Amino acid sequence: MSFPINCLHLLIAIMIFAPLTANKLNISYQWKILDFDFGSVEKRQAAIQEKSFVPENNLPLGLEVYKTRIFVTVPRWKFGVAASLAYFDRTNAQMESPILKPYPNWDAHRSLGGEPPEIVSPFRIRADQCGRLWVLDTGLEGLLEEIPRVYKNTTLMIYDLHNDQLLRSYEVPYDQTTEDSFFANIAVEDENCQDTYAYLGDLGAPALLVYSWKQNRSWKVKHNFFHIKPLAGDMTVAGINFQWTDGLFGLALRPEKTGYSTLFFHPMTSFDEFSVNTKVLRDEAIATNKSNYYEFKYLGSRGPKSQSGASFLDKRTGVLFYALVNLNAVACWRTTNPGYSMESQGRVYMNNVTMVFPNDVKVDNDGNVWVLSDRLPEFMYTSLDYSQVNFRILSAKVSEAIKGTACASKLVKNPEIMQVIENKIGVSKTQNKKNSAWNYNGLPILSYVILSAFAIFVR
Ligand SMILES: *[C@@H]1O[C@H](CO)[C@@H](O)[C@H](O)[C@H]1NC(C)=O
Ligand SMILES: *[C@@H]1O[C@H](CO)[C@@H](O)[C@H](O)[C@H]1NC(C)=O
Ligand SMILES: *[C@@H]1O[C@H](CO)[C@@H](O)[C@H](O)[C@H]1NC(C)=O
Ligand SMILES: *[C@@H]1O[C@H](CO)[C@@H](O)[C@H](O)[C@H]1NC(C)=O
Ligand SMILES: *[C@@H]1O[C@H](CO)[C@@H](O)[C@H](O)[C@H]1NC(C)=O
Repeated sequence: MSFPINCLHLLIAIMIFAPLTANKLNISYQWKILDFDFGSVEKRQAAIQEKSFVPENNLPLGLEVYKTRIFVTVPRWKFGVAASLAYFDRTNAQMESPILKPYPNWDAHRSLGGEPPEIVSPFRIRADQCGRLWVLDTGLEGLLEEIPRVYKNTTLMIYDLHNDQLLRSYEVPYDQTTEDSFFANIAVEDENCQDTYAYLGDLGAPALLVYSWKQNRSWKVKHNFFHIKPLAGDMTVAGINFQWTDGLFGLALRPEKTGYSTLFFHPMTSFDEFSVNTKVLRDEAIATNKSNYYEFKYLGSRGPKSQSGASFLDKRTGVLFYALVNLNAVACWRTTNPGYSMESQGRVYMNNVTMVFPNDVKVDNDGNVWVLSDRLPEFMYTSLDYSQVNFRILSAKVSEAIKGTACASKLVKNPEIMQVIENKIGVSKTQNKKNSAWNYNGLPILSYVILSAFAIFVR
């Protein structure tokens, strides 16, 4: 009997090692329901009365940590979101239900005289190392209401985090979108503060928009690898079954010595990981040239149930952290390891209560990894129980988060140990010769597990 073992690998690795490796993140903040700083009890009461604030319609989704401030986005899925971008200061925040302040201020979230608010509904944001906050605003309110409201076209807004002034507002050109477009993810290549590039993922009409800060313009890149894998659309989270069709989603950058970066990316409706050098993306002529197909690399598959949402790369270690939305888990992969394979994936955290729908992942400038989980499928399809904790922000030092996992150090295969394992489980020499890398096809699962254990723990 032959198992599709390559496909099972991540799942098995995560399950098998669950008891051996403790969860590596701590809950830093948590909420049953969100609340905002309105300035006074009366103003808060008034907002609730006029339904500009419907507390149970506010769900945190995107996360960013800059110095002492923790930012969350609160997309306008439903009507009654007080402010769609907010923050709290962690120097004086308690763990339970920190009160959110609107960013940059209340006026930016109010529709004055029929004009759209300055910020309508961003999903994810990014604070770069130059002190700028990049806010990717979808411009849409009420995606889960009967009649959504299109306030404005997708707009990239950039704030100065030193004084919270709006530096720039860039409306994505209409001809770079389609009616199916939806921009929920952004990565910023900020090695050079003047020549900065932002990468905007279109998950609805799969494409990547490249925005040049210097040129103040963008161009659209298309590739097959941005598209979904149809069979990966079926998910069950917290007992709720649903089907999604999200294309290009996770975007993470690793700077290279060349001055360019490697962009690691994946669609959400997929089990696969890909990469491309930003040298290909940053030049519009190359980026849009059909003959660049092979510049995009397929790295490998994580196996069934391994649909991944947000991802983020820690520049210091080269470790890619990513959310496993269909497994209530966060995992990692050390990008400097030779292959995107089973033995190089690490489990960071997995829990069917505290990690239901990990929705954003970031690493701050002090080397801490942060994850926001928010039970989104319940919010969308059933309803949240507001007597329970629903939203959490978890964190750990990167070194703690990857300790004891395959992401902790460079993977070394010890030939003597490999020989012992081969003898024990009878891997034939010919099979090994045929494949210079390990090949698990046809091995019984038990053998596979033994191999995994050695690969991960014997170093
Ligand atoms: C979006 O852009 C198009 C083309 O410029 C324009 O016709 C349309 O009114 C814009 N939509 C909104 C809501 O501003
Ligand atoms: C950048 O481009 C946008 C849209 O094309 C324009 O509205 C804005 O004024 C430009 N900003 C700068 C700083 O050039
Ligand atoms: C696209 O790239 C190919 C190969 O590098 C080159 O020969 C061709 O001229 C390019 N086409 C355009 C339109 O730039
Ligand atoms: C979570 O997992 C535990 C142990 O596997 C199980 O007993 C429990 O029913 C699960 N809870 C939910 C909400 O799925
Ligand atoms: C979690 O918190 C405990 C107690 O504060 C601490 O000892 C531990 O090191 C923390 N773990 C991580 C991964 O930060």
